[in-house]
Amino acid sequence: MFDRIAASMASRPARWLVTGCGGFIGSNLVERLLGLGQSVTGLDSFATGHRSNLENVRDCVGPEAFARFTLVEGDITDPKACAEACRGADYVLHQAALGSVPRSIDDPLLTNAVNAGGFLNMLVAARDAGVRRFVYASSSSVYGDHPGLPKVEERTGRQLSPYAVSKMANELYADVFGSCYGMQLAGLRYFNIFGPRQDPEGAYAAVIPKWFAALLAGETVFINGDGETSRDFCYVENAVRANLLAALSEHPEAPGKAYNVACGERTTLNELFVLIREIVARRRPEAADVAPVHRAERAGDVRHSLADISRARELLGYEPVVLVRPGMELAARWYFRAAGVEA
Ligand SMILES: NC(=O)c1ccc[n+]([C@@H]2O[C@H](COP(=O)([O-])OP(=O)(O)OC[C@H]3O[C@@H](n4cnc5c(N)ncnc54)[C@H](O)[C@@H]3O)[C@@H](O)[C@H]2O)c1
Repeated sequence: MFDRIAASMASRPARWLVTGCGGFIGSNLVERLLGLGQSVTGLDSFATGHRSNLENVRDCVGPEAFARFTLVEGDITDPKACAEACRGADYVLHQAALGSVPRSIDDPLLTNAVNAGGFLNMLVAARDAGVRRFVYASSSSVYGDHPGLPKVEERTGRQLSPYAVSKMANELYADVFGSCYGMQLAGLRYFNIFGPRQDPEGAYAAVIPKWFAALLAGETVFINGDGETSRDFCYVENAVRANLLAALSEHPEAPGKAYNVACGERTTLNELFVLIREIVARRRPEAADVAPVHRAERAGDVRHSLADISRARELLGYEPVVLVRPGMELAARWYFRAAGVEA
């Protein structure tokens, strides 16, 4: 299905808006869209993203393709910036948000302003610009304390953090904009996406880049809790495909829903540590002897996370093409280069 959609895109170029284009997932989307001959507008405030990610996209796609990219530097909390970015867009892939559960616990007002308020600004701007479809980043955190495994889209529990509430609010607003204004929307509940350009720096870095960076630098690796917490880690290529499929799926029931985006495979943090240590030790043999340090569980974290991806399979034609181990090898190349180690 993806190959068919990619081929049809190349023959019918459209204009895409990617918000959060300087971030991890956003920059991977920009790279793929430009590679498929599309015109892309990017909106970013560079709150957590980096201009260097866009420079890297330019290096990957070449100057000719990069000429089809236009950057709008602005904040999604500013309705004017959203309107400017949406002008002329056929499709919106909305990724801009403040990620991280702990960040939202430290600063719930800011998380709400950006993730809920900024989202609403983007919906209004996309509605006024008459975009064909609006695809947005939701999160597996919306499942909260629901004990069921694997997670199916209809059954969510109580959200456990301000971040999760902000993503649930996105889905509620998306539903209402579908019914009140006839917009076509699709939410993607990402489950721990990883891969090139995911930021290893800062207090709120995600576990995979953080552990690569720590093992490469010879620093302590911390595991929160006993390490038997599990996640459905998903390589970014799968998320890129899910976005394009959600934007272009012609299945009549595709719009108006949220979809799990994952591999449908569960890995514990202890297993993840062993895998990353094994990969790093091939370049830095001292890493083979490193033992992680366990510390307290983090507030707001879900114990187990595993997705049922049947809805995305059936309605979008989604299929994960890069599973955890091969994805980790691909991500490693990026972290090796970033750390100046030969890949
Ligand atoms: N990475 C994951 O595992 C994961 C999991 C679930 C959901 N998500 C969601 O996916 C999206 C992308 O996440 P990511 O991992 O690429 O994060 P990221 O931090 O790398 O990218 C987010 C981008 O949004 C930009 N941004 C933040 N606030 C902004 C604002 N007010 N105005 C304009 N731009 C702003 C940042 O500068 C950054 O470039 C987010 O919505 C996130 O909540 C990610």
